[in-house]
Amino acid sequence: MNARVLYTARDGVAELRLHRPEKKNALDLAMYEEISEAIGRASADPQVRCLLLGGQPGAFCAGNDIDVFLDEAVDIVPPILRFMNALQAFEGPVVAAVGGPAIGVGATMLLHCDLVYAAASARFQFPFASLGICPEFGSSMLLAQRCGYQRAAELLLLCEVAGAERMRELGLVNQVLPDAELENHARDRALRLAAMPAQAQRAVKAMMRRGGGQSLPELFQREMNEVARMMRSDEAREVFTAFLARKKPVETTT
Ligand code: COA
Repeated sequence: MNARVLYTARDGVAELRLHRPEKKNALDLAMYEEISEAIGRASADPQVRCLLLGGQPGAFCAGNDIDVFLDEAVDIVPPILRFMNALQAFEGPVVAAVGGPAIGVGATMLLHCDLVYAAASARFQFPFASLGICPEFGSSMLLAQRCGYQRAAELLLLCEVAGAERMRELGLVNQVLPDAELENHARDRALRLAAMPAQAQRAVKAMMRRGGGQSLPELFQREMNEVARMMRSDEAREVFTAFLARKKPVETTT
């Protein structure tokens, strides 16, 4: 199988690019493992100082693969937790370049990036409640902390789709760029970060992220236990099935 997480490291920047364009970069369990490995590889490389996360033109990440949600046989929790913990534990700065949809975990992973740049075409959604499940990756706590409870409720309870400019207003995106400029801009910022004193960058990041007293890995575990329970519920399975069936031709009996 072709790699669906592309990894390159140059000039102190490890670039991780999701590459499953035919599914808008929806993440199945093997992809979670690939991303975790790639982050591990970056963490273990003393030359790497900064991580740059990206998708494909027109798709950052459409979230968890809903097909996987419907598969009773798989335990989604361990691979997803490995990914979350790997990203959260990366000590250097993480930059994200978001074009097209960033939905579900595609949006929540951004809360663990230090600088987020969005193309004007980017669209963000935290659709968990509308799917019959609950948020993950610390977002129930982090969104309210970052943009205020009322605004977080619009995102997490109403599940509103937010454009790039709205996300910038909410303080969840640093800058909105014309689509054609996104990648160069994000890479330029990643290179700038990689050229700075690495130890200081790590110390500042650790200080900024400390506080609140809540252990994120413990919160991740609690949330994922709930997600795993809720995704088996009738209401969630009805929504997943309806999504996957929505474009299939209607069967007719003659
Ligand atoms: N899981 C599984 N398949 C997905 C997916 C997901 N999260 N997101 C997209 N896909 C698939 C579509 O089913 C479609 O597959 P097909 O070509 O075999 O029919 C393909 O990716 C392209 O998606 P499509 O919906 O045709 O593209 P679009 O540009 O019209 O819309 C999205 C893109 C991302 C807005 C839309 O696909 C979407 O809403 N996806 C679901 C996102 C979601 O709820 N994720 C959260 C899960 S927790």
